[in-house]
Amino acid sequence: MTIEWKEEEKIFHLYNGRVSYMIQLVHGKYLAHVYWGNQIQMMQPSSILQFKGRAFSPMNEPSDPRFSLDTLPQEFPAFGNGDFRTPAYRLQSPDGSTVTHFVYDSFEIMKGKPLIKGLPMTYVENTLEADTLVITMVDSMLGVGMNLYYTIYRDFDMITRSVSFENLGSGEVRIQQCMSMSVDFHDSNWDWLHLQGTWARERHIERRPLIHGVQSISSSRGASSHQHNPFLALLSKDATEDHGVVYGISLVYSGNFQATIEVDPFETTRISMGINPLNFSWLLNPGEIFQTPEALMVYSSEGLGGMSRTFHKIIRSRVCRGVYRDRTRPILINNWEATYFHFTEKKLKEIADAAKDLGIELFVLDDGWFGHRDNDKSSLGDWIVNRKKLPHGLKGLASYLNGLGMQFGLWVEPEMVSPDSDLYRNHPDWCLHVPGRNRTLSRNQLVLDLSREDVCNWLIETLTTLFQSASIRYVKWDMNRNMTEVGSALLPPERQQETSHRYMLGLYRILEVLTQRFPEILFESCSGGGGRFDLGMLYYMPQTWTSDDTDAVERLKIQYGTSMVYPALVMGAHVSDVPNHQVGRMTPLRMRCHVAMAANLGFELNIDKLSRDDKALVRQEIQFYHQIKNVVLFGDLYRLLSPFKGMDTAWMYVDENQEQAVVFYYKTLATPNPPFFRLKLRGLNPKLKYKINDNKRVYYGDELMKIGMSLPLIKTDFFSEIYYLKRDE
Ligand code: DGJ
Repeated sequence: MTIEWKEEEKIFHLYNGRVSYMIQLVHGKYLAHVYWGNQIQMMQPSSILQFKGRAFSPMNEPSDPRFSLDTLPQEFPAFGNGDFRTPAYRLQSPDGSTVTHFVYDSFEIMKGKPLIKGLPMTYVENTLEADTLVITMVDSMLGVGMNLYYTIYRDFDMITRSVSFENLGSGEVRIQQCMSMSVDFHDSNWDWLHLQGTWARERHIERRPLIHGVQSISSSRGASSHQHNPFLALLSKDATEDHGVVYGISLVYSGNFQATIEVDPFETTRISMGINPLNFSWLLNPGEIFQTPEALMVYSSEGLGGMSRTFHKIIRSRVCRGVYRDRTRPILINNWEATYFHFTEKKLKEIADAAKDLGIELFVLDDGWFGHRDNDKSSLGDWIVNRKKLPHGLKGLASYLNGLGMQFGLWVEPEMVSPDSDLYRNHPDWCLHVPGRNRTLSRNQLVLDLSREDVCNWLIETLTTLFQSASIRYVKWDMNRNMTEVGSALLPPERQQETSHRYMLGLYRILEVLTQRFPEILFESCSGGGGRFDLGMLYYMPQTWTSDDTDAVERLKIQYGTSMVYPALVMGAHVSDVPNHQVGRMTPLRMRCHVAMAANLGFELNIDKLSRDDKALVRQEIQFYHQIKNVVLFGDLYRLLSPFKGMDTAWMYVDENQEQAVVFYYKTLATPNPPFFRLKLRGLNPKLKYKINDNKRVYYGDELMKIGMSLPLIKTDFFSEIYYLKRDE
């Protein structure tokens, strides 16, 4: 991969043999976007941009009446100086004005990728993996420098971007808005796709055509949210799973975000993504630097499938960190849906005994083990074991489990405080609040003010003591409400609007310290299921509880939608009881297992109460999971049939050498007198021969991809099958 500065043409060219990204310096001052896509040969890249003076578009360069910022495809557009489209940033100078004029100053090309202090990011393990371009722009009147960071990776079809502002002057500057990226496409004939939902219905896929004007998704909930994932994709009209052009953009951030698309009358499409400007501002004192989160920009000429596979590889290898990054995860059992708050040590042991007998490796004690928490009305913040429920403490339970040969995992919800807690009684100002205003409860709890250093330090020490108090090998880090009355007791009035972002910086610091301090603990993040399923959390915790909805049918949509960006390796998926606790549906245990086996398999039910036959089935599926899990968790995903389009869902994973593949097929409701159906596979080596489920018959890869695998005629609802393909010599 290379980054070139073409002096004659005034073009920066980032390329890696597959992808190109080009920026042109116009009039020696302005950064124009020229091209992003497949690497191509170009004799005249600088002639791509065309100029024309348009009515009502300001003339920004008196010497060139054809030039206007309003019609220029820009790299990082300002507010207030002639471009009336969505700005990427807005700064307020000490005199109150919000007009800025940043012009090109210099550039630097460096090997590797600089660290972004205090924020999650994609990383490199050696400097040969990526090159970084830093373009410096300066507004000399304001006395502020702006660095635009672009990294191109050698092995991924991706550019990463972020921005920093430095106050070089002597006055206070207020950042009112600052996105992480902005890019102007030269046309508008696109669809866009994003992931929307709510609690128990996260990341459903929505695809629609672009229209003139602004369309956007965002979160102002203090978390990336169940409602909108910080991701969107732009798709050519013909784009499918396997064909067409797709640009996928995702933000490495877990708090309030905004992603905006604006189509202007000249069919330019502007996309920007970053921290939500709503209720955000940041005072930048002389000498200070503000750094935005990072945005990942993936290009695919192989449809949505190609985009997802690129995201998956990056997330698995250059977002997730720690010892679990490259490891399969233990099969766990969680007691939440089995007992909720009402458990005894005896009951937990019964679940653990049965689980161990079936091959489950880790027991997770969920909510209700601390303070006097018998419901969701108390004790968050009082992280002291309830001896009435656990007479031998966490240590006693952990030793029992270890004696069985199981590991012990623990649920915590550290960011929260219950009004009925010693923590709140002792520190009523430690929660987010605005003096004199209502402290709105949600799930009966308040949010600790992590913008405060003292609160963060207290949490770090409290959790350190807790995690050292027993042999804890897994932590589920929950977060069960969104933020209201976002204000901090310690910040001065002029900095109150920094609270949300400072909260995220505080949270990230806590997570950095704890994950470094406890490298052998597997952390799983959770926010009422998937309310904070984002790249920011994955940088610290290598898996996320996908959804509180464990119904096998609903999960098909949730896991399918989640897989647009996130690999199976980072998704927690549990087999739960029927009737399902969220939707009341009865599905066979086999299908429930088969859905959960498409990610990190876990269980969440009274497993000791299963019938003998059901236990035998679970034991058998667990053994099968061990056979397939490496392919599922580390393989390339191909989505074959979408649950959003009908009764059939199918996806498959193929290992790196194309020697093994696992195909999952599900049919939710049977149809009478159904036609024959052949499932066309993807991603196999056309020339290799494969055996399916150890049957005697052998098929060529191209046969399975072109003609397909014939499926049985199905006469039952909730049918599922997993096919394991292995190369035959
Ligand atoms: C919400 C989580 O998503 C559930 O799995 C469970 O841990 C509850 N919180 C406990 O309060």
